[in-house]
Amino acid sequence: MSAAVPRRAGVIGGGRMGAGIAQSFATAGAAVTVVEQDETAAAKVRDRVAGSLERAAKRGLLPAAPDEILGRLTFVGDVSGLPADADVVVEAVPENAGLKAQLLAAAERVVGADTVLATNTSSLSVTELSASLARPHRFLGMHFFNPVPASALVELVVPEATERAVVDLALDWTAGLGKKDVVVKDSPGFASSRLGVALGLEAIRMVEEGVAEPQAIDDAMSLGYKHPMGPLRLTDLVGLDVRLAIAEYLHSTLGERFAPPALLREKVARGELGRSTGQGFYSWND
Ligand SMILES: NC(=O)c1ccc[n+]([C@@H]2O[C@H](COP(=O)([O-])OP(=O)(O)OC[C@H]3O[C@@H](n4cnc5c(N)ncnc54)[C@H](O)[C@@H]3O)[C@@H](O)[C@H]2O)c1
Repeated sequence: MSAAVPRRAGVIGGGRMGAGIAQSFATAGAAVTVVEQDETAAAKVRDRVAGSLERAAKRGLLPAAPDEILGRLTFVGDVSGLPADADVVVEAVPENAGLKAQLLAAAERVVGADTVLATNTSSLSVTELSASLARPHRFLGMHFFNPVPASALVELVVPEATERAVVDLALDWTAGLGKKDVVVKDSPGFASSRLGVALGLEAIRMVEEGVAEPQAIDDAMSLGYKHPMGPLRLTDLVGLDVRLAIAEYLHSTLGERFAPPALLREKVARGELGRSTGQGFYSWND
């Protein structure tokens, strides 16, 4: 595998993930067009990337000055503004299948036949998202992790229809971004969410059954198995509502072993969503 950087990239949606993806491509040297809904949203993305680049520069992690990298970003208000000669366009709008499918199909009509289209979905079927595409063979999942600039992994999610040459390009780009890949057949939860959620749900069942306190369960994994963080603390950071939504989807596709525990539903109903609300399996108010 070789490392290569796309000359031109597009990113649809510049939120938490899209801003990080745009920053990573631009840092590697690509000219990046970011599609955001309006000028206010675009200004937020620019600020987010600028702040992140400044922090990276202070830690000596950038190959060029922050302003130079920021200058590689262009903002447009609609997918019609994507460059026709983009090598790759990554969609990173909210986790809504209809919205994603519609924007991907619209982007496909703007870009060239060789452009690779990718989705950053963390749980939806990549194959189903390709149903409205004329060129599903040029499409795959590039599942980046949060925070993207600091995260080592990209999970490449490959539907049946995707050409091998497209997977090879994505492998080269992942290496060009300085990240590692795992290649996974398109299937519910891919590799990362399926295993991560399975561990998290079992940990919640253990709290429910009174096996141990959350801190003890997390310590068992972080100290005993060298996980950087225990599954309950991670659930608090991801958000209990996000975890519940993915568990419900995996329950419907993979069966009973992903049935969400009652305790998870109760906490979400009480608004105990984790760090974002100050209370989850831990209290975050301090
Ligand atoms: N947050 C995570 O930890 C994480 C990790 C991996 C993958 N993902 C996936 O990445 C995707 C984005 O997640 P996020 O956390 O960045 O969401 P987010 O809500 O932070 O960002 C979504 C962005 O899309 C923009 N947007 C909405 N509609 C648009 C449109 N029509 N045109 C252009 N932009 C539009 C919004 O303004 C917003 O800035 C989701 O599919 C999510 O499942 C998230």
